Amino acid sequence: MRRIMVAGNWKMHGSLEMVETLLGGVINGSGPDSGADVVVFPPFPYLQLVQSMASGTHLGWGGQTLNPEPKGAHTGEVSGSMLKDFGCTYVLVGHSERRAIYGESNEDVASRFEAAQSAGLVPVLCVGETIEQRETGLTEEVVAGQIDAILARSGVSAFEQAIVAYEPVWAIGTGHTASPEQAQAVHAFIRNKFAALDDTIAGRLRILYGGSVKGSNATELFAQADIDGGLVGGASLTVEDFLAICRCAD
Ligand code: PGA
Repeated sequence: MRRIMVAGNWKMHGSLEMVETLLGGVINGSGPDSGADVVVFPPFPYLQLVQSMASGTHLGWGGQTLNPEPKGAHTGEVSGSMLKDFGCTYVLVGHSERRAIYGESNEDVASRFEAAQSAGLVPVLCVGETIEQRETGLTEEVVAGQIDAILARSGVSAFEQAIVAYEPVWAIGTGHTASPEQAQAVHAFIRNKFAALDDTIAGRLRILYGGSVKGSNATELFAQADIDGGLVGGASLTVEDFLAICRCAD
């Protein structure tokens, strides 16, 4: 039985007060018996608070990025082992905002993916096309290129311990969710791409959808054959909105 994952990417939002309220509400309102694995990605300064509140509960957590180097003179950066120190299981790599705003190339993302696994973290590899790329028929080419960079560096076996998140850039934070059919088509493309290399890994790989996931569209998205959950931005910032999505996995 596949188990849906619902992951909240808080981006650069929050405050001490908000994290306490949000996390308390999510921990109490979701449970180990729900149909979803529930994970949150807080900003770095709140990781210790998340660790102290969520340790021993069903909730998982992770970092939003990491530096590819294990340590060194990289002012402002955070390594994979530092994330491990605060109990992280996961780390996002290649989020479209990292690619677009901070100029991370496919190769930069591949080095972060590798560093994550070296530190014992499960990378959540984000891929997705812009609206211009979709409208010019480049969706599959772009997504394949983003995945190929990881395959070239880490090999297909690295995906035994990784998650992929398909996040069309045009759907992120816009309210324009991909239709279940649009999302499923790309998810199937991704799974088939892995199946051509290793059937078992492809079958087990969790492929999340991200981009304006809400309680009102999650049930239909999660019902698609190749959609194994959601990476949620805006709707992960309020307890009720996030829990509504978690309940869609039941
Ligand atoms: P959104 O963000 O749910 O606000 O569209 C998703 C994401 O960026 O991971």
